[in-house]
Amino acid sequence: MHNPAFDQLATYPFWRLNNLLEKVPKPDGFSELALQIGEPKIPPPDFVAEIIGGNSSKWAKYPPHPGTKSYRSACASWLTQRYTLPEEMIDEAVNILPCAGTKEALFHMGLLAVPRDPPSSSTEPYAVLVPNPVYQVYYGAAVFSGGKPYPISAPAENNFMPDYAGVSPDILERTALVYLCNPSNPQGASASMTYLTELITLARQHDFVLVVDECYSEIYRGTPPIGGLQACAQLDGSMDNVLVLHSLSKRSSAPGLRCGFVAGDPKLIDLYRTIRSYASVAVPLPILAAGEALWRDEAHVEINRAHYDSLFTAAEEILGHINGFSNPSGGFYLWLDVGDGEETALKLWSEAGVKCMPGGYMAQDDPFTGVNPVSQYLRVCLVHDKVTAVEALERISVVLQG
Ligand SMILES: Cc1ncc(COP(=O)(O)O)c(C=O)c1O
Repeated sequence: MHNPAFDQLATYPFWRLNNLLEKVPKPDGFSELALQIGEPKIPPPDFVAEIIGGNSSKWAKYPPHPGTKSYRSACASWLTQRYTLPEEMIDEAVNILPCAGTKEALFHMGLLAVPRDPPSSSTEPYAVLVPNPVYQVYYGAAVFSGGKPYPISAPAENNFMPDYAGVSPDILERTALVYLCNPSNPQGASASMTYLTELITLARQHDFVLVVDECYSEIYRGTPPIGGLQACAQLDGSMDNVLVLHSLSKRSSAPGLRCGFVAGDPKLIDLYRTIRSYASVAVPLPILAAGEALWRDEAHVEINRAHYDSLFTAAEEILGHINGFSNPSGGFYLWLDVGDGEETALKLWSEAGVKCMPGGYMAQDDPFTGVNPVSQYLRVCLVHDKVTAVEALERISVVLQG
């Protein structure tokens, strides 16, 4: 049986990169350096393993989908402190739901927000607006939920944020779901308070679900990025139409833990609890215990941030003189304008054994112009220890100057 949805999804960026790089061998004398995937390589704090070990009797229990009160309370306290929210704003019982990392939850947002039948006012399916370039999961969620994805360009002139307010009224009228990545992957840009409050207002005007993916919120240089719930507090304190997602993968260098949470609108959290009860495995209790301790600890996050700072300082020293270089304010990616991202990725692999992601592989052709808006970019993940990162940056510098 043929499911046409799959035809739209043959563009998974990592498959495309594998297909590109397998055409040429790695050069002799160079070890492989994997800078194509945003997987933190520095270890999480030692207490993670200790807590998991100490809770091993709980492996014998099926975990409940809502998790534990103490995990949800840790998440609520963290949100309140991090975003200086009013004390009573987040109620762990109704505003928080744990999830097994945020990738799966981001995908589920399509099931949550996109109605099965097309809108009565249109022959077109419901619209799902995603940033372009896009974290591929948002796009997959739109397609598999039966919605129609609209990739909205996020150009440098717009602080790398998608201009959702500029989308035509007939599309906004049938928009069911909008994704925002803040700070954004791949560009590392952070949304302003005005941008966020206007987007929340738009969500309420058109009654769509706004999902703000904040998994990079703790990796920043300078001022901490503003969050979606902070913007809700600034508006009127209501979380209607808004969900934010947080993860321990980047903040705590624990991508293997698969631990995060969704927070916001209590009606949407309630619906999402139903979806998770049918569709997901709940987060195991020993993992929740370790996760709780991570949300309650900022010391390791400060160490991580200082580590990434030192990598971006090294990047500036090694690549700063190259045209198209800039350091982002958030996240752990360099987003370099190299002229042709695909050609450069191939060159870096074949001449220096370095794997990087062509920017264009992270974007869809613009639905209005038919053009890939970021084919000139290259994404470089700065996720390794300092020695490895410097080695990679030096190899990149040689190839880009060659
Ligand atoms: C933008 C973005 N959102 C979400 C995720 C998923 O992270 P996790 O499932 O580990 O929480 C990633 C992972 O790289 C990401 O880049």
